[in-house]
Amino acid sequence: MKKETKKRSWAEPYKIKMVELLKMTTVAQRKKAITDAGYNTFLLKSEDVYIDLLTDSGTSAMSDQQWAGLMLGDEAYAGSKNFYHLDDAVKKYYGYKYMIPTHQGRGAENILSKILIKDGDIIPGNMYFTTTRLHQELAGGTFVDVIIDEAHDSTNLHPFKGNIDITKVEKLIKKHGAKKIPYICVATTVNMAGGQPISMENLKSLRKLTQAHGIKIILDMTRVAENAFFIQERETGYAKKSIAAIVKEICSLTDGATMSAKKDALVNIGGFLAINDKDVYEEASNMVVVYEGLHTYGGLAGRDMEAMAIGIAESVSDEHMKARIGQVIYLGEKLKEAGIPIVEPIGGHGIFIDAKRFLPHLKQEQFPAQVLSAEIYIDSGVRTMERGIVSAGRNAKGENYHPELELVRLTIPRRVYTQAHMDVIVESIENVYNNRKKIKGLKMTYEPKYLRFFQARFKTI
Ligand code: F0G
Repeated sequence: MKKETKKRSWAEPYKIKMVELLKMTTVAQRKKAITDAGYNTFLLKSEDVYIDLLTDSGTSAMSDQQWAGLMLGDEAYAGSKNFYHLDDAVKKYYGYKYMIPTHQGRGAENILSKILIKDGDIIPGNMYFTTTRLHQELAGGTFVDVIIDEAHDSTNLHPFKGNIDITKVEKLIKKHGAKKIPYICVATTVNMAGGQPISMENLKSLRKLTQAHGIKIILDMTRVAENAFFIQERETGYAKKSIAAIVKEICSLTDGATMSAKKDALVNIGGFLAINDKDVYEEASNMVVVYEGLHTYGGLAGRDMEAMAIGIAESVSDEHMKARIGQVIYLGEKLKEAGIPIVEPIGGHGIFIDAKRFLPHLKQEQFPAQVLSAEIYIDSGVRTMERGIVSAGRNAKGENYHPELELVRLTIPRRVYTQAHMDVIVESIENVYNNRKKIKGLKMTYEPKYLRFFQARFKTI
């Protein structure tokens, strides 16, 4: 196992050509804004936000090459040049045989779930993701978490907390039979666990087991290049392999993938479904017409597909990834120095504050992560988001899920903020930490039926 932190700078392999000016607000203005937003940072207006760490989804800065690519948009209804460019990029960098564009990741999840899942099926995965699990459930399946136990402990330093517990999968196969398990959903890196990677060794073991039982592996490849970075850093035998080579090796151990290109692939909108099985491809290319658009645009403009094709190539560059995750690690190390409880090891796309340890006087039913996220916004205009009991939602019987992890996510957009911004974030969170004992819990006043965290509203108790 190699040492995790290197002393060499992670400085950016680019310079800034255009800037977006931000509005500065006062504490009083922010208190009003968050109250009006029902203590939900998703309901804030972005113009009232200073540093936006709500998500790394669709928030990246595109390169000049990608912006130039927009001008090459071939806005034909069918058979656009940009579709073929994207198709080539998916084949070249990921190695999948067939690709269908979708408007974003959940579009691909919807189609894949409808095709592969039958009523009563079991879909094991390395921790749930909100939209992915919902589409599995809507298709009649039941998600079962098969991630290693270490992933649920924010202090455990396992280098691959995204790994799958192979014994848990074996038990599921024994209990339900392989026929009830259409595929295993493998996420790279695991968002809800704190951006934690899966190792190549683990994926290989899973491949062996599933092949023996005729079970597919479907990759949630949303942050596959970030996962590859951790394999390069931490896994024996990979230090000299490029991110591009590691990404391709990961994909080669799977049968298909859903992709939210709004993350790794550095675009503001877009996604795709990739698959090696011709029959599944044919069904999907028919179904996409119903939900997204023709199979050569899938809800996207030609220019969007062009930017995505270019972004995929940029995302697997070693220099890019070193700076991208280097910045996340810089922020995490500073927060650790300040004594803030965060999920460790530091993950790929953001820092996750452990709200249970930050606010030990609050019960999970008082939504500690939700209120902490609101308090950070009031302090400095830094927008974060809840990843705890609110995000977890309710099961099919209507009961609340109670996740072990009650987290506030500081998600870092790619190529957007500077080191000085990172310092401002640390100062703000330190300030909130020093005043943490005064923070009171929340009660939910409005709860939408699906993916409640996006639109739920709260009041202070
Ligand atoms: N899978 C993972 C691991 C994700 O993080 C996301 C989105 C999706 C699938 C769905 O993709 O948004 O393009 O439809 N995550 C965003 C986030 C929303 O903030 O973590 P989408």
